[in-house]
Amino acid sequence: MIDFSKFTKYSKPGPRYTSYPTAPEFHEQFSEEDLINFFKNQSDDRPLSLYIHLPFCRSACYFCGCNVIFTSKEDKKVKYIEYLKKELAILKKHLNTNRDVSQMHFGGGTPTFFSPEQLQEVITEIKTIFPNFQEDAEISCEVDPRFFTKEHMDVLKKGGVNRLSFGVQDLDPKVQETIHRVQPFETTKNVMDIARDAGINSINIDLIYGLPHQTKETFAKTIRQIATLAPDRLAVFNYAHVPWMMKTQRKFDETTFAPPSTKLEILKDTIEYFTTNGYKMVGMDHFAKPEDELFKAITKGELHRNFQGYTTKGGADLIGIGVTSIGNGDDYYIQNYKKLNEYEEAIDAGHLPVFKGYSLNDDDILRQYVIMELMSNFSLDIKRTEEKFNINFKEYFADAIEALQEFEEAELLTISDKKIEANETGAMLIRNISMPFDAYLNNIPEDKRRFSKTI
Ligand SMILES: C[S@@+](CC[C@H](N)C(=O)[O-])C[C@H]1O[C@@H](n2cnc3c(N)ncnc32)[C@H](O)[C@@H]1O
Ligand code: SF4
Repeated sequence: MIDFSKFTKYSKPGPRYTSYPTAPEFHEQFSEEDLINFFKNQSDDRPLSLYIHLPFCRSACYFCGCNVIFTSKEDKKVKYIEYLKKELAILKKHLNTNRDVSQMHFGGGTPTFFSPEQLQEVITEIKTIFPNFQEDAEISCEVDPRFFTKEHMDVLKKGGVNRLSFGVQDLDPKVQETIHRVQPFETTKNVMDIARDAGINSINIDLIYGLPHQTKETFAKTIRQIATLAPDRLAVFNYAHVPWMMKTQRKFDETTFAPPSTKLEILKDTIEYFTTNGYKMVGMDHFAKPEDELFKAITKGELHRNFQGYTTKGGADLIGIGVTSIGNGDDYYIQNYKKLNEYEEAIDAGHLPVFKGYSLNDDDILRQYVIMELMSNFSLDIKRTEEKFNINFKEYFADAIEALQEFEEAELLTISDKKIEANETGAMLIRNISMPFDAYLNNIPEDKRRFSKTI
């Protein structure tokens, strides 16, 4: 039996590394012109991955850390679609939109809070601007089961959507009430049936551990009930509590959160349950069936991490479309305006709605590789890294290696000449293990780090 109380000292603010450098390093000096230059230098042979942000939700789930606009007004949605169309038209002027599209993701907010007709309109416009979707393109959509009908499914299916992700979070009635998201099991089951009937064979379910009033027992019940639905993938996120950024999170009584040692036990139980019931762990918070591409990608060393979590499709340039969305190429990140009025103003003036960005230098690219390898595979091939970047790893990262000593002494990882490798317990602390490689984090005093806690 592992003594998890030993590890609670690692419960500290830290990035989730959906990007490196992380979003706080993005800055406003990065201009539209910079982005256009990056576009110009991209090879036409590189496929595109599209992310479309549909930001609206009907009501607030109090835990939510996403970029959301709460509304019940129909005209807001109509107007948003008009702006998406205008943004796409501006994009077409600067980007070769005839490039292949290998991936498209609708995220939110709640994409299916738009009506089926509205979603149809968005999909048609995108496919007009980007006519060359690859035949096996991965097209996915986030779905709130409380806002999803067969008509939505029909439109998505016709539009080529082959993956769905359902938000569930937790099934316990008391937890659901506290988080302001009452969603009976039957609601989730019904939408699963709709999706399966439509022939969708890649369905993900999102759960969150660390929510108020959750205990080992309640979460154990949730995962067992969810397993009866046999999703192809699961994301089991660590609740990111950032009340200084997210007002609704301030509604929670922090004394109702499980302590870090219990959270680690919940995570361990969850890993044990899913891995003995037909799933494999992928990265730090995903599970997939062994025949799922996500798991196969690990064995091939092709698992990548991006803003949506983990993906099998690397080597594409990500184009973010819509308010607040993020895009990136090999050597840059760009984020659109976060405020709707600023996003609209930029577009009205005929500009790409560039809010912030970041241009990566050689050191960033190397550290990005190291961190993403650790976050995806829980290990790093030192020799391969040395060859790829022409460095002496142990000299280049002497500070980081020293910082990792404590993890080695705690038997959470091993460091040899060839590899850094976290073991099963270390994998639960992979954010902490990646942090010493982050050049920027080390410049911020620990008490000033505005990230959620790693445990
Ligand atoms: C945009 S939502 C998914 C689609 C839809 N809006 C829904 O909630 O069903 C993305 C996912 O992010 C996760 N999420 C949101 N806020 C979070 C937080 N504070 N900590 C951890 N995960 C969070 C939830 O699991 C949620 O399902
Ligand atoms: S979790 Fe999903 S439905 Fe709830 S507020 Fe966030 S984006 Fe909206």
